[in-house]
Amino acid sequence: MDSPLNSEIESFFDSAPPLNDRAAISQKLKEFIALNSSESGTRRVACVTSGGTTVPLEQRCVRYIDNFSSGHRGAASTEHLIKMGYAVIFLYRRGTCEPYCSSLPDDAFLECFEVTEESAVQVCQPYSEAVKRAIRDHHAAVAGGLLLKLPFTTIFEYLQMLQMIAVSSRSLGPCSMFYLAAAVSDFYVPWKSMAEHKIQSGSGPLDMQLLQVPKMLSVLRKEWAPMAFCISFKLETDAEILLEKADMARKKYGMHAVVANELLSRKEQVVVVTNNGKIPVYRDKTSSDSDVEKPLTKLLVDRHSVYIKDSNT
Ligand code: PMT
Repeated sequence: MDSPLNSEIESFFDSAPPLNDRAAISQKLKEFIALNSSESGTRRVACVTSGGTTVPLEQRCVRYIDNFSSGHRGAASTEHLIKMGYAVIFLYRRGTCEPYCSSLPDDAFLECFEVTEESAVQVCQPYSEAVKRAIRDHHAAVAGGLLLKLPFTTIFEYLQMLQMIAVSSRSLGPCSMFYLAAAVSDFYVPWKSMAEHKIQSGSGPLDMQLLQVPKMLSVLRKEWAPMAFCISFKLETDAEILLEKADMARKKYGMHAVVANELLSRKEQVVVVTNNGKIPVYRDKTSSDSDVEKPLTKLLVDRHSVYIKDSNT
C-alpha cells in the first residue's frame, strides 16, 4: 500500500477504535462461508449493506452525525436474493429495516400481542398471518444457513466489517457479490482527535473540522475481493446530475454496475448503469405489494450469472 489513497485508507483504519466483537464476527463469517462452499458447487453469496452509518462527535458518544437510509432497499433486496438461491451476509445499521419484517407494524410493535386468560402471550388476530409468515421465513433463512445478520452503528464499525467480509469471501471467487446499498458517511472525526467527553455548549459555537472518509470502493475491488461482482449505489437529490455521477463512479471505482437513484423517486424507479448501457428499472404499479427491488435484483442476478460464466471460461 503506497498510493496517497492507500495511505488515507491505512490512516482511517489505524485511527478507528477496534471492533469489540471482532473474534466472534470473524468466526461467524468463517462458518457461514464454509457452509455455503462445497466441492460439489459453491453457492452464490451476496453481501448486502443497508442503512446509514453514524459519525460520532465524542468518544463517549452523546452526539453524532447520521446518514439518511431506512434500510428498506437492503432488507427487501435480501429477501429477493435469498429467494433466487443466494446466501446473504446482511451488514445493516442497528434499528433499521430487517428482512422479513416489512409487513409488521413498526410503530406499535406491542399492539401485535395480547395476554390470554391463561397468561400466555398470543398474536392479535389482524397481525397473526403477517407475524407467522415473518417468523417462518426468517427462521428458514437463518436456520438454513442462508442469512447472516451483522449489525453496525458507526462508520468505523461499518468499514472494518466490510473489509472483514470482503477478505473472508475471497475464496468464493466470482460467486461472491457485493450489493452496497448502505448510505455511507463522507466525513468523519478521527478517533484520536475526538473529544472524550460530551462537548460543552457553554464555550460558544462549535468549530470542528471533519476529514474526508476515503472511498473504499476501489480497494474493495482491487485488493479485498478482486474476483467479486460489485454493485454500488449512487444517491442524488438532483436528477440532472445523477446519471453522469453514477457513470463516473462506475469508471472510477471499477464497479460492475452502479444503481442510480434519486431520493424522492427511489421506491418507484432506479437506473442500472453498466459498461454497456443504462437500464431503467420500474416498480410494477399494477400490483400494490410490489417493489422496485424485485426487478432490480433479478436484473443484477442475471448480470452476475453472465459474469460467473465469463470468469470460468
Ligand atoms: O434505505 P432506503 O431508505 O431504502 O434508501 C436506499 C438508499 C437511497 C440509501 C440506497 O438506494 C442508496 O442509494 N445507497 C447509497 C447512498 C450513498 O451513500 O450514496 P453516495 O453517493 O454518497 O455513495 C456512493 C457509493 O460510495 C455507495 O455505494 C457507498 O457505499 C460508497 N461510499 C460512500 C462514501 C464513502 N466514504 N465510501 C464509500 O465507499
